[in-house]
Amino acid sequence: MTEAMGSPHRVAVIGGDGIGPEVVAEALKVVAAAGVKLDTSAYDLGADRYLRTGEVLADDVLDELRGFDAILLGAIGPPIGSTAVPSGVMERGLLLRLRFELDLYINLRPFNGAPGSIGAGADFAVVRENTEGPYVGEGGALRRGTAFEVATQGSVNTRHGVERCVRYAFELARGRRGHLTLVHKTNVLTFSGDLWQRTFHDVSLDFPSVGTGYQHVDAACIFLVERPGTYDVIVTDNLFGDILTDLAGAVAGGIGLAASANLNPALTGPSLFEPVHGAAHDIAGTGKANPLAAIRSAAMMLEHLGETEAAERVTAAVLAEQTDMVGSDEPWSTASVGDAVAGRL
Ligand code: IPM
Ligand code: MN
Repeated sequence: MTEAMGSPHRVAVIGGDGIGPEVVAEALKVVAAAGVKLDTSAYDLGADRYLRTGEVLADDVLDELRGFDAILLGAIGPPIGSTAVPSGVMERGLLLRLRFELDLYINLRPFNGAPGSIGAGADFAVVRENTEGPYVGEGGALRRGTAFEVATQGSVNTRHGVERCVRYAFELARGRRGHLTLVHKTNVLTFSGDLWQRTFHDVSLDFPSVGTGYQHVDAACIFLVERPGTYDVIVTDNLFGDILTDLAGAVAGGIGLAASANLNPALTGPSLFEPVHGAAHDIAGTGKANPLAAIRSAAMMLEHLGETEAAERVTAAVLAEQTDMVGSDEPWSTASVGDAVAGRL
């Protein structure tokens, strides 16, 4: 079908480190089985590459990436505890740089609680603001290493950035079950919380069919564990969204199932799709990495590329496989799970 519609989608593939390349290989296997033709270009980026060459993300590589229809990423990062790559170098230099430079202002993370998990049956999505908040790198350190050391790390929130994120979340909720929860900490973060809350209210007027709620982030952590089934869409800032989605992953059956899309809904450049999990070097090469998060992320990519029907089939296959895996004692491997999902299409 895709071929009839024109040339294949051009996708930059960044396997990255640890289990990244393994799970991405399964995702590409499934996309091919879904009948979607991709024109892929592999990019060797990540901690391994940095240790070999000293390069994190060269400007000309970034410019090349801008020319793709989408980017599929496995995982980036050195082994936990490794001191060879200082903390923040890969995060700030590669992943966050891509999010900021490509203006991937939405981090969309869907959760469907697997049977047997405390989130069984829950079906919700977190819309995480992805270009602002405490992630921007505002602040600095003074008198470092002395008894009088000072460190500040500001949270940057703009009306423009918050509004486009909140608007996206309302649109998403309108197309789902019609409920949106704002999560913040307005009782303490009175400046940024006020901006978020007023913006949320203003945008809500354009979406009369969407019911709204508000929760402080600490309370949301309790509700997410105790009654995850009550959520439809959650919208929140960058750091709260980071934390909340790891919690949501654990609630919904494990981080090996958690998919994400870093979206530029304005389509001024490619969007980036990646599982929420990290490089997990300890299990790299063992076949123990669950590729379902990466496969579902690829399904989100297909959706973004307009391959709606294939995206729906792959997502349904992932959810069916996730259910079967939980209910069975059959041993599985990274590749066997990829094969099983492909076989369901
Ligand atoms: C994530 C990750 C990143 C984040 C790290 C690796 C910078 O934890 O995608 O959730 O904090 O956003
Ligand atoms: Mn995270």
